[in-house]
Amino acid sequence: MSDLYARIAGIGAYLPEKILTNAGMEAIVETSDAWIKERTGIEQRHIAADGELTSDLGAAAARDGLKNAGIDIEAVDLIVVATATPDLTFPATATIIQEKLGITHGAAFDVHAVCSGFLYALATADNFIRCGQAKTALVIGTETFSRILDWTDRTTCVLFGDGAGAAVLTAESGPADGQGVLKTHLRSDGRFRDLLYVDGGPSATKTVGHLRMQGNQVFRHAVNKIAGSMKELADQAGIDIADIDWFVPHQANQRILLGVSKKLGIPEHKVISTVAKHGNTSAASIPLAFDAAIRDGRIKRGDLVLMEALGGGFTWGAALTRY
Ligand code: ACO
Repeated sequence: MSDLYARIAGIGAYLPEKILTNAGMEAIVETSDAWIKERTGIEQRHIAADGELTSDLGAAAARDGLKNAGIDIEAVDLIVVATATPDLTFPATATIIQEKLGITHGAAFDVHAVCSGFLYALATADNFIRCGQAKTALVIGTETFSRILDWTDRTTCVLFGDGAGAAVLTAESGPADGQGVLKTHLRSDGRFRDLLYVDGGPSATKTVGHLRMQGNQVFRHAVNKIAGSMKELADQAGIDIADIDWFVPHQANQRILLGVSKKLGIPEHKVISTVAKHGNTSAASIPLAFDAAIRDGRIKRGDLVLMEALGGGFTWGAALTRY
């Protein structure tokens, strides 16, 4: 095995300008700011403008990430995009972003693991780098979930928002100075499809469809599956959960984040939460939260960061990095 590893050279983010508050939601469906805040912790979400596409959000986050990393766009030789809301059925949103960034070399493709998408994309790019097949990778989570919501269904439409986040990974040769993606852990189990899915698709219905979720059933599985994955990852990496500096979870629901951290004994001050401001942005939520915590000075170089997610499929997993 080679001694190559992937360093996170920088993180970037993009949120659409339009903000939809819980008060705004009250005008759309029968709900209340109090219910949404108490059950989810969400106060507002961003909504993409008409004509603003998943690829536009992703390209903006990628540019921001490259700027923060101080890396020239020409260096990028791999783009992995995690999205469940592609611009089109094909081509891949990754190749559309590649074109928008003006890159004509290397490879670009999408991965589809819904809310766990960023972790799946990160694990994929990490392995490409470890195998020596890529030197500079963009890992992008980008979503316009507002386009697949049923805006008459209050049990789902209040939960989601639009946004994008990107991580720039560079290949470094070891021995690692400890900075980089240390370990990833991915899981899936297709038996849970009916609890969280979109009721349309090119082959099944020839339509795009709307998101359907039995939220309380998903909730029941989420805490145990996520905590199990994090524990397994920590054991494999030979670290103690107590050694984690920051916990950057997928931002589905404040009660899930706190449930997982409590189960693993992670103190609340180590939990990065952006769910109040962003809602659930699916594959974009982890890099958006990571970016917010770098910007406000909490996550610093050398910190040990543990990420996790669970999404439609079910898919779930965790990733450990030293930033
Ligand atoms: N406003 C007011 N009342 C509502 C709303 C709303 N927006 N939505 C539901 N209710 C009502 C329900 O109708 C129900 O009323 P009833 O008791 O009269 O029947 C009541 O509130 C309780 O409903 P529950 O669904 O049991 O509420 P719960 O406490 O479980 O919260 C929630 C719902 C927020 C969806 C929660 O279950 C959750 O967060 N689930 C997990 C979501 C998740 O993690 N998804 C995974 C990632 S998403 C992805 O992969 C795309």
